[in-house]
Amino acid sequence: MAPVAISEESGNATIGSAAELKKAQANKPTEETQLFNPFFSPTVETENDDYQYAKYKPQFPVVEWEPLTDIEVTDRGHFADPSKTALFSAAQKVKHLTPTIGTELVGIDLRQLTNPQKDELALLVAERGVVFFRDQELSIHEQLDVGRYFGPLHKHASTPIPREPGLEEVHVVYNDAAQRPDASGFSKIELWHSDVTYEVQPPSATSLKVITGPEYGGDTLWSSGYALYSSLSPGMQVYLEGLTALHSAVPQADGYRAAGLHVRREPVESVHPVVRVHPVTGWKSVYVNPGFTLRILGVPKPESDTILNFLFHQIADNVDFHVRFHWEPNSVAFWDNRVVTHTATFDFWPHTRHALRVTPRGEKPESVEDYESRTGKVAKDRQIEIWKEQGVEIPQSKKGLSRARGYND
Ligand code: SIN
Repeated sequence: MAPVAISEESGNATIGSAAELKKAQANKPTEETQLFNPFFSPTVETENDDYQYAKYKPQFPVVEWEPLTDIEVTDRGHFADPSKTALFSAAQKVKHLTPTIGTELVGIDLRQLTNPQKDELALLVAERGVVFFRDQELSIHEQLDVGRYFGPLHKHASTPIPREPGLEEVHVVYNDAAQRPDASGFSKIELWHSDVTYEVQPPSATSLKVITGPEYGGDTLWSSGYALYSSLSPGMQVYLEGLTALHSAVPQADGYRAAGLHVRREPVESVHPVVRVHPVTGWKSVYVNPGFTLRILGVPKPESDTILNFLFHQIADNVDFHVRFHWEPNSVAFWDNRVVTHTATFDFWPHTRHALRVTPRGEKPESVEDYESRTGKVAKDRQIEIWKEQGVEIPQSKKGLSRARGYND
């Protein structure tokens, strides 16, 4: 079986027949044929499970969901006070973890956030890429409420949902001793992804709460698409701004089906700009990921392969774009899937790691040209904006396409 590149929506469900279930089970690979990819985690079902969060363990129901339809989305970050006074004044500490990406807010109880504070959180997540909280008692229902405030929630077509009924908008991440990662099943680079980018309206401010985790290990890393854009030469930036790429759910769905699991909605493919503009910050971000982007369109295949390979390696290898977070039970992260990619580490076997994700749908990704003609504003390079704010000189090489000496203008 080919290894599966995996990471991770509303319609009416119909329960599949017993015959369908039997067929799905009959297709299950044997121990010898299955290469275990940790993002794709069929769970061993145990009866009379006395684990405290057994009701949130994964299930793959045999149900059918309608295709997603387009929806109107208005980002809550548009309504935020740019100084974020309401949010920051409620925190004991605001800890920026790197200059580029990641902020931890200490002393906030997510259950107590007012709507203006949630708007400011949306803006902070858009600016910093990912925001962390520890010691959060919020229930999955409260996590869903915060997510719904940010946008209509996505239901995943293939990844597991909790056993407890009524939680179809929750994506379950679950690994335990029964699932030993097998390095022959996947490469680390292919696990980097932004969630469900194949959707027409991929997600915005997404949250994950770890409910059970190892004492150490199981960290998640995020990589900034703003920083990747800023790191490129002006020529490369202009080149990428004119391109689109194909994002596909097909390999993910095929992987689940090959493992004998039921896919609840037919897989989709979308074409998105290679550089998208965040609707609130107006900053440009590279929007491709190893998990789901198959090819750049309108260029020769070798060129697409080479450019994607370069960008994927920058996402995974350039540590200046990264933040790495060690989870404790009840840690929560909010990340903006429009401007970051992420990957988890699978170094904790045989321990259990269990987390619940809530995924609001965002707008259709907007190219630089479309953003500028819709808003009448100029899309920005985040790094240059920060340097301007700091009063730092902008290097000549970042000022635009270099011209031949003596060029007469
Ligand atoms: C995800 O890909 O959404 C989950 C990341 C993680 O398990 O840390």
